[in-house]
Amino acid sequence: MHDVHTIDPAGQNLRAEAERLAALGPAARVMLPGGVPAWSITSDELIRSLLTDDRVSKDARHHWPAFIEGRITPEWSLYAWVAVTNMFTAYGGDHRRLRRLVAPAFTARRTESLRARVQGICAELVDGLWALPAGTVVDLREQLAQPLPLQVICELLGVPVEVRPDLGRAVDGVFATGASPEAAAANYRDLYRVLTELVASKREYPGDDLTSDLVAARDGDEDTGSEGLSEEELLDTLLLILSAGYETTVHLIGNAVHALLTHPSDLARVRSSTASWEDAVEETLRWAPSVAHLPLRFAVEDIAVPGGDVIRAGDAIMVSYAAAGWDLERFGEDAGRFDLTRADKDHLAFGYGVHRCLGAPLARMEAGIALSAVFEAFPNLRLAVRPSELKPVDSFISHGFQALPVVLR
Ligand code: HEM
Repeated sequence: MHDVHTIDPAGQNLRAEAERLAALGPAARVMLPGGVPAWSITSDELIRSLLTDDRVSKDARHHWPAFIEGRITPEWSLYAWVAVTNMFTAYGGDHRRLRRLVAPAFTARRTESLRARVQGICAELVDGLWALPAGTVVDLREQLAQPLPLQVICELLGVPVEVRPDLGRAVDGVFATGASPEAAAANYRDLYRVLTELVASKREYPGDDLTSDLVAARDGDEDTGSEGLSEEELLDTLLLILSAGYETTVHLIGNAVHALLTHPSDLARVRSSTASWEDAVEETLRWAPSVAHLPLRFAVEDIAVPGGDVIRAGDAIMVSYAAAGWDLERFGEDAGRFDLTRADKDHLAFGYGVHRCLGAPLARMEAGIALSAVFEAFPNLRLAVRPSELKPVDSFISHGFQALPVVLR
């Protein structure tokens, strides 16, 4: 008889939970909110193997019996994670088609061309912080970590300035796995209303932005068939780029600031140039990955895994990127230690295989720029509360803080 670990929907101690899961083996049996059984994959090696295995799909419509038979309903708190129709939940040729439409906007070269703009937005935000009186307590999440990625992704998508705050709140709601079904449903209604209005306005007045490009791909391809995208895929692709491209980066910046402020000798290494801001970004991604758990994948066939277990065809599979970052076999006995001098930087925080993160170059660039800007502007930056007083966000997917109170100078 196997132990089954019940996932805490509110993710109040993701580190302890990942350790418990890892102790259950490379593939741990878990109960998701709503009594949905799944596996949580905890080992770096097994994640790499399953994420490059064609017998593992993210497409619930074709490969999850519970979804196909209607046992998974819109009231389920993770419904949107499996029901959206975009590259995130697509398999095989559909995945290639949907990813190909967006990928050119996020290549390393295209991302590099955004550097000056990201630096400009960051400089404006830091100037705003300078204007505050010395000794003021500032929430660095609200004043820097959140507005930077939101503004960058909204400019890329051509989202008008006046709807950005609403959109930001609605995207936060996508990750709030501790929220009630009513709150989650209301949040999705808001989100789709904003996205539908955005598409309608770009259809009428196209701009030089990614939303207009996707609308053109959709409308221009109506009679060319398979290479185009449906209206639903268009909306869900926008939702994906907004949610994947924003919330995760907020937490990367916040988690990196937290890690450096609570590990002064590592911060001193960067200040003395024996380590770089990029090292800080990579170690943060391993040690405190913004995406702790990723729902969901499905076994297309029976899959035998190390330790003698068999993941049966139709079983749901979650990936624990948090456990992977702290995998003792992969990163050694001190895997739990934040250490900028760690030679192995090949973490899984951006996923692996065909679904690996499209926005990794952008996220890395934004975080590197934000860290150097804030730490160089404020050499005495410090937390305004004890680390134990920081509250995690209400999610077992997102790994970050609700607020990051600091004193700048
Ligand atoms: C710190 C920041 C980020 C982290 C930790 C992160 C993490 C991830 C992870 C783990 C996946 C793989 C999901 C899976 O297991 O299937 C993923 C996919 C994805 N990410 Fe990111 N991400 C970040 C930033 C971004 C940004 C800035 C964008 C840009 C818009 C973005 C766009 C995407 C997209 C479109 C996918 C889906 C790819 C596919 O299914 O083919 N992400 N991300």
